[in-house]
Amino acid sequence: MGKGHLKGNDSKEKKTEFSLVRVMGTWKCKLGHKVNKDTADCVSAAKIYESITEQGASWTVVSPIVFTYKVTETRHLLDPSNDTLLLGHITDPRQLDDIQKSNKPIKRFLVVDQEVYTIYGTKITAYLEANNVLYKILSLPTTEENKSMKMALKILEEINNFSLDRRTEPIIAIGGGVCLDIVGLAASLYRRRTPYIRVPTTLLSYIDASVGAKTGVNFANCKNKLGAYIPPAAAFLDLSFMQTVPRRHISNGLAEMLKMALMKHRGLFELLETHGRMLLDTKFQADNSVYGNHCLQAASQATRIAIVTMLEELAPNLWEDDLDRLVDFGHLISPALEMNVLPSLLHGEAVNVDMSYMVYVSRERGLLTEDEKQRIISCMLGLELPVWHAAFTMELIQKSLQDRLKHSGGLVRMPLPVGLGKAEISNDTPCEILHKAFVKWCDELSGPSDSN
Ligand SMILES: NC(=O)c1ccc[n+]([C@@H]2O[C@H](COP(=O)([O-])OP(=O)(O)OC[C@H]3O[C@@H](n4cnc5c(N)ncnc54)[C@H](O)[C@@H]3O)[C@@H](O)[C@H]2O)c1
Ligand SMILES: [Zn+2]
Repeated sequence: MGKGHLKGNDSKEKKTEFSLVRVMGTWKCKLGHKVNKDTADCVSAAKIYESITEQGASWTVVSPIVFTYKVTETRHLLDPSNDTLLLGHITDPRQLDDIQKSNKPIKRFLVVDQEVYTIYGTKITAYLEANNVLYKILSLPTTEENKSMKMALKILEEINNFSLDRRTEPIIAIGGGVCLDIVGLAASLYRRRTPYIRVPTTLLSYIDASVGAKTGVNFANCKNKLGAYIPPAAAFLDLSFMQTVPRRHISNGLAEMLKMALMKHRGLFELLETHGRMLLDTKFQADNSVYGNHCLQAASQATRIAIVTMLEELAPNLWEDDLDRLVDFGHLISPALEMNVLPSLLHGEAVNVDMSYMVYVSRERGLLTEDEKQRIISCMLGLELPVWHAAFTMELIQKSLQDRLKHSGGLVRMPLPVGLGKAEISNDTPCEILHKAFVKWCDELSGPSDSN
């Protein structure tokens, strides 16, 4: 048997491995996996495996796809002299040089959350005008109730009318997680994949929705049931947007930050425990005169740790093929809760109610001490997050876990905190523990003030 020929299971099957090389502009199959690079213009990472049997031939294509995207902190994103918004996504220095030298105006389509547009619209327009950009701004009420295919299609129609160049003119989304998710989905559908840029303007989207690859809209009364795993070309993070975010929405983002702290980073937990209230009061603004430098340090440390710990979990598992995901903590029961009580609970609030219950499950399993449990719940209350909700019932827990079972290979993977800043994924939590934890959780935390 020659090189590149593999023995199939069936003795009459002939299997052959081909590499793909480009010679003078044409792609060709070359037998085997070792290719003389000197004789080719380009060698692809893709392979074709051919199998020939008595029934005929079959080809298995293995084509690795690499996603490269940038998550970049910046200050004064809307200052006309800051070119990050227009050019910060470009990784090829030659392309950047060409654009900077060219006198052709830059063209951009922007989708901006309506409330964000009310506050920042004048600044956004002034920025684009000052940089001589040909632009269209679509300002939309991107609320959770409107997070639907209907809105994605509306965006697509407008993009189509604007006629942008899919290779060089990324769509820009400016807003909270809802806006970023819908625009991301629209971009991934337009001409099969058009690059897009995320500019998060809420804390939740700053540390969560802008960091990963997921896009989506709600469908059939389920959260994010339609969507794609297509990361943005870049996410540009400017903390100054937080100064206009309502206090309740800062707490909302702190919930996702607390999630990463509980799962992976004791230091972040302690930071939130000590400085969480200050971060809430100052809305992560460094120039706050009362707290000054202290605030600058805590705000940038907390956001950076949250982002890095999130990236560590997401980058190796961009398409969520591995079902053991710590980032799912607080996201087992909360999607159903969030949809059932919409719009009374925000995403992070629903996540927090779920996390609070899971803390009781962990305690019941002996993974947390009573003191650790109390510290976590006090921290949540300090961040002004709900720790209990009347619609989070045993029935809802069971139904959500059963749904999970269907979609995760017959096992419910339940991330649970073990001490502070560490976690394990349990797939054998007995019903009895879930019940006991529920009763205790209700006994200790259900109160008129926490029930929302
Ligand atoms: N793709 C992901 O990986 C991912 C991760 C987490 C959450 N999400 C999604 O994100 C959504 C929640 O995001 P969210 O909490 O940002 O909600 P949101 O987008 O609804 O924004 C919250 C509110 O704040 C307003 N707002 C936004 N920026 C503002 C600013 N700078 N000043 C004043 N008001 C402002 C918005 O108009 C809105 O009323 C959910 O739909 C969730 O599914 C996605
Ligand atoms: Zn979330």
